[in-house]
Amino acid sequence: MNTLHTTSPGEAAAFIRRGQTCAFPTETVYGLGADAFCEAAVQAIFEAKGRPADNPLIVHVADADQVARVARRVPDAARRLMERFFPGPLTLVLPRHPDLPLAVTAGLDTVGVRQPRHPVTQAFLAACGTPVAAPSANRSGRPSPTSWQAVLADLDGRIPCLLQGGRTEAGLESTVVDATSNAPVVLRAGVVTLEQLRAVCPAARFADDEDDADHELPPRSPGTRYRHYAPQARVRLVDGPDEAPPDDGPAAYIGLTPPARPDAFRRVQVCADEAAYARELFHFFRASDAAGCAVIYAERVSPRGLGRALMDRLQRAAAG
Ligand code: TXA
Ligand code: MG
Repeated sequence: MNTLHTTSPGEAAAFIRRGQTCAFPTETVYGLGADAFCEAAVQAIFEAKGRPADNPLIVHVADADQVARVARRVPDAARRLMERFFPGPLTLVLPRHPDLPLAVTAGLDTVGVRQPRHPVTQAFLAACGTPVAAPSANRSGRPSPTSWQAVLADLDGRIPCLLQGGRTEAGLESTVVDATSNAPVVLRAGVVTLEQLRAVCPAARFADDEDDADHELPPRSPGTRYRHYAPQARVRLVDGPDEAPPDDGPAAYIGLTPPARPDAFRRVQVCADEAAYARELFHFFRASDAAGCAVIYAERVSPRGLGRALMDRLQRAAAG
């Protein structure tokens, strides 16, 4: 199949309205969308990505009215989180509306809902006129795409349309929060930090914190079970550039601390802060692969704030 490229949200939305898939930019990463109420189109997402059928999709909405089409009920805490973080990089897991196909939620009785804030995404979703189910637009297991070129590298010829935008602003995925009860639980760390969630819901916590091991915990997001975010190169986590042996074959380094001998690496990315590290990480993984690097050294960060999401992605990539 030919993949049509367009910069027109309306032209891209026509594919969704016709029951086809279309990749599109958001402020986190690019997504691969389909009409959430069209089962055949939702199925095509799983096929294009090679995604396991037991991993649910996030439904993207244009406005609050669409939330009511996909979620049966919005608990109080969820409503407060929506008021503060919608539109934005937060996904709320809510009770599934009975009309929403089970293919979207992988058979779960809950649905992840997100209202993106990127203006191009908003124009696209408004033109679709229907909630859009969309995972990240990468082949399963690969780093999420943060540019349209990265989408094509994985999915060219496998999807009918790509809505082109620029590099994504955040570079990491949304925070996924189980908001089915009034004590929200973070299932996947992401761009919205636990500290920010607690400013609205003080009871918010991570699903996998050991302090909380005595609580009855809901399972983590199904997707977090799989190998993820991995470039072809081996990823090794280091406490700083000094720990990266400079003569270990073609190597790359990314982190906050500048290496003493940058010329020892084929690619180097020194990030000004954690937000820049997050924005560059997946892009750097793909660029290092393209440059033929055999190993990528990535500096650890403190697992607080955005650092928690960064460490989650780094650890998963290193486990690959
Ligand atoms: O930023 C993002 O979240 C991007 C953009 C495109 O919105 N999307 C994204 O989708 O990262 P995906 O499919 O790559 O990751 C979604 C995660 C998976 O770990 C999935 O298991 C989890 O959210 N998830 C979706 N629905 C869920 C549900 N009902 N219950 C628990 N986890 C859910
Ligand atoms: Mg993904």
